[in-house]
Amino acid sequence: MLVLLTLLYFHKEGTSYRRKVSSFFITARITSLIGTMTVQDKYFLGFDLSTQQLKCLAINQSLKLVSSQIVDFDRDLPHYKTHKGVYVNGSVVDCPVAMWVEALDLVFQKFKDASFDLSKVVAISGSCQQHGSVYWSDDAGKLLGQLDSARGSLVDQLVPDAFSRATAPNWQDHSTAEECKELEAITGGPQGMANVTGSRAHLRFTGAQILKIAKHESETYSRTATIGLVSNFLASLLCGKLVPLEEADACGMNLYDIPKRKFNDKLLNCVDSQSGDSSKLYSKLLGDPVSCDNPTRVGTIADYFVSKYGFCRDCSIYPITGDNLATICSLPLKKDDVLISLGTSTTVLIVTDQFNPSPNYHMFIHPTVKNHYMGMICYCNGALAREIVRDKLNAEAGHGEGWELFDKAVQDPSVDTSNELGVYFPLAEIVPNATATCKRVIFDPSTGDIVKQVDSFADRRHDAKNIVESQALSCRVRIVPLLGSSPTTKDNTTSSVKVKFDYSEAPLSDYLTRRPKRVFFTGGASKNSAIIGKFAEILGATEGTYRLENPNSCALGGCYKALWSQLYNDGETTETYDVFLNKCFPWDTVESITSEGVKSSEWEQYNEKIVPLSHLEESL
Ligand code: XUL
Repeated sequence: MLVLLTLLYFHKEGTSYRRKVSSFFITARITSLIGTMTVQDKYFLGFDLSTQQLKCLAINQSLKLVSSQIVDFDRDLPHYKTHKGVYVNGSVVDCPVAMWVEALDLVFQKFKDASFDLSKVVAISGSCQQHGSVYWSDDAGKLLGQLDSARGSLVDQLVPDAFSRATAPNWQDHSTAEECKELEAITGGPQGMANVTGSRAHLRFTGAQILKIAKHESETYSRTATIGLVSNFLASLLCGKLVPLEEADACGMNLYDIPKRKFNDKLLNCVDSQSGDSSKLYSKLLGDPVSCDNPTRVGTIADYFVSKYGFCRDCSIYPITGDNLATICSLPLKKDDVLISLGTSTTVLIVTDQFNPSPNYHMFIHPTVKNHYMGMICYCNGALAREIVRDKLNAEAGHGEGWELFDKAVQDPSVDTSNELGVYFPLAEIVPNATATCKRVIFDPSTGDIVKQVDSFADRRHDAKNIVESQALSCRVRIVPLLGSSPTTKDNTTSSVKVKFDYSEAPLSDYLTRRPKRVFFTGGASKNSAIIGKFAEILGATEGTYRLENPNSCALGGCYKALWSQLYNDGETTETYDVFLNKCFPWDTVESITSEGVKSSEWEQYNEKIVPLSHLEESL
């Protein structure tokens, strides 16, 4: 009866109903068009102040790239006489701060020369090389606050007076072995340091760099009122005031207590007690960093940029983070998603909610997702090691250069490597910590014991397959402690065997059940389908494997962060960063290798290699 009455109503009211519907759609369309017109007119900038260049990208609200400019330090600012952006003096590697200051003016000038309308930029964020430190003088705050485009360039007004030190130590510096030892002793060794700060003591990390300057350049240190990372240095220039550190990037200092989310007093005291300066490091660091829990605006763009380049006065500046941290912001990564960069070295970035520190990798607070972390594993032996095997294979087969034979071997099921393992480290390796070596073994799949070491396998094709397998297996086992606590596949083992990799020991069942959700490949070798096909099989993502080629990932991460932060603060979205980005991400920029999970049967083929790999690594 109700249905009948309803039908009758719609029949009678048909015309007006249709009119209402169509007028609704027209209104919606117009609103969306107006919306599109206005939102497309808003731009979001993302910086990437890296080792060799300052890049700046602009996107619109649809996440489309609308413009980009680059200042290449060696080419565009040759008067600083840097080589690949740095000065190298033995183990000391640093960069002229004035060059970065000048680069900022230059990059905006390039936008202006290209007639890009900077008045439409509503928010800015970005990324910088990590660990570097900038030393500001007592006058810095005043000079930044007085910046005036009528009084010359940024360099004219800030250099040298705003700085107490002309150069910033660079992440490639390796002159701080002594300081690392001192700091690590305070936390009771590498694991203790990792438990507190997310990483063992590293030569490039800012704490050791600051300690070295406090000890050996006491006069400079006393003249230093503020110490910044490269990231908040850039944010300070943009805001025309000194802005605090950003919390995620502060995790690259070996000073910040990640579980307590505050600077570690003992580590700060170690510097204070040796500096001979009464002002405390905590105050030089401008106190607590800006929390990553919410998108906090650190300021608006300085008047200098408004009058010189036409920025809008209320353009927001959001905290700038580290380059690797921005890279994870360039993708819609969720917990248990992994990004593998297959470059000269291999870098694994994983989004996790497990703070499970180890001296073998790094943990940072996630720059945009609350209660999450980024794990970072760096391997030295990546492309170079594979190329050595490729070249030997080609030479022995009398074949020309190229990957053809290598790829064929990796994909050939008749090249049986099921009881073989090899590690190929032409360079000393970080993970596992080993000197340069090459070792091939035969193992017993039923026990996992190594039966014998061999000088060579049946033929060179086995090396091609084994190097890719062992590199991928190493990634598979090392991300296990960072994957979510609930197993992703059923555990059929009843074994209580524990397996040790580096510093951590876990039940074998963990290695046989925990799989990442999605894996993204990037970097030079991601173009090679045989290599990433094998990596994908071994890593066994349950929800998809993707390949992307994005030379702009750090800057893009900054753009997306600026966009989301602004929408969030304007009340236009309440979604968390990962949910937001998963919805509006331009998926046409990534290639889906498999949109479904890797079949368990494929992934499980490698289960028998876990125990022997741990034995093999222990023998190195
Ligand atoms: C990370 C690291 C480098 C720098 C420069 O720990 O040292 O990735 O951030 O890119």
